Amino acid sequence: MSNRKFYALLLLTAVLLTLGIASLSVHAQDVSGDLEIFSWWVGGGEAAGLEALIARFGELYPDVNVINSAVAGGSGVNAQAVLSSRMQGGDPPDTFQVHAGSELNDTWVAAGVMEPLNFIYEEEGWTESYPEGLISLISDAEGNIYSVPVNIHRSNVMWYVPANLEQWGVTVPATWEEFVTTTCPALLAADVTPLAVGQAWTQMHLWESVALGVLGPEAYAGLWTGDTDWASAEVTSVFETYGQVLACSNSDRDGLSWQDASQRVINGEAAFNVMGDWAAGYFLVDLALEPGVGFAWSASPGTEGAFLMLSDTFGLPVGAPNREAAVAWLRFLGSAEAQDIFNPLKGSLPANTDADIENTELYNAYFQDAYTDWTTNAIVGSLAHGAVGYGEFKDGFSNILAVFATDGDVAAAQAIAVELWNEVYGE
Ligand code: GAL
Repeated sequence: MSNRKFYALLLLTAVLLTLGIASLSVHAQDVSGDLEIFSWWVGGGEAAGLEALIARFGELYPDVNVINSAVAGGSGVNAQAVLSSRMQGGDPPDTFQVHAGSELNDTWVAAGVMEPLNFIYEEEGWTESYPEGLISLISDAEGNIYSVPVNIHRSNVMWYVPANLEQWGVTVPATWEEFVTTTCPALLAADVTPLAVGQAWTQMHLWESVALGVLGPEAYAGLWTGDTDWASAEVTSVFETYGQVLACSNSDRDGLSWQDASQRVINGEAAFNVMGDWAAGYFLVDLALEPGVGFAWSASPGTEGAFLMLSDTFGLPVGAPNREAAVAWLRFLGSAEAQDIFNPLKGSLPANTDADIENTELYNAYFQDAYTDWTTNAIVGSLAHGAVGYGEFKDGFSNILAVFATDGDVAAAQAIAVELWNEVYGE
């Protein structure tokens, strides 16, 4: 290259760099004021992940004052009620946590209170970076995309401590039938709670794993499309099995948070717990346990090869007080950088495929395993975490499970579930 050409190139590079830096800094300087972020991440790995995001965002946008409005309560039990009344009262936060799928679409999008975010996806090239299936879960029929996913969580995970199982002489059950007929009696005889279960929403969480284990992914998915008849013998068998599984759990369920239930496994009071992989965040961040030693995992019984998914996303409500800051936050949240900050603490997988999932320093053995399953398994959606059946169905189903937990009446539970399904989804 001639000297002139070289210097011309150098100059061009310098100009481009200056322009780039200038546009970045003008961009960041333009954004200021309060930014209220609404979620239900108040403790442990979840809060650590959110706080790490907020810290990095603060470096990028120093003039924005983040207000972290998290409302305690696993799976958003309290946050969602607060959010509803704020939205109805015309007082939306700037951005809020919402699950991909039915929870986003059938409530907020259907009510016309979310802004489409296609412009961010186009500008950031995210239609290439996010899995198609995930994008379709957060889009309407016209192709408007309504939120930014920060992760992929797995619901159907069974957690245990290998040394404890060895001591009690049991192995991880491959099916619920094995759990009920072999594992559970052996553990009861050893005076150990076979399965630690917590408050109401964690029971629905367990129910969906039992349903998937009994039905398999195709028939489970059919529960939400009408292809699987809620009145069928196979659904009877889901409730029967669920009843038998509950009988192998602690009786003080309703007083326990998900963390309490997970803790019982670590303490050696219980052998197993079925919980989403935010439990990995809890074990890794709160308890500093070593994966594979301090805690271990397996697909919940009968669900090997199936991934019961959910995704935490953030959206932009119409009328967000600081729309500009919210857009900056969403742009950041969806970036590979943000996803690599958040997910190793949260226990979830990055949703953005440009993230550094192969980096085993960041993503340990648990994540590697989950990622293999995410990319090879049959994917189905979680009821307890908004991917399918949100709103009226979920509320009604929660009541059915509450009654079932006390009376164990399979026929009654199934009959009311059939009625509920027809009411919400029937012609
Ligand atoms: C889920 C949420 C997870 C985690 C969990 C426990 O609904 O998607 O991110 O927060 O609840 O609270």
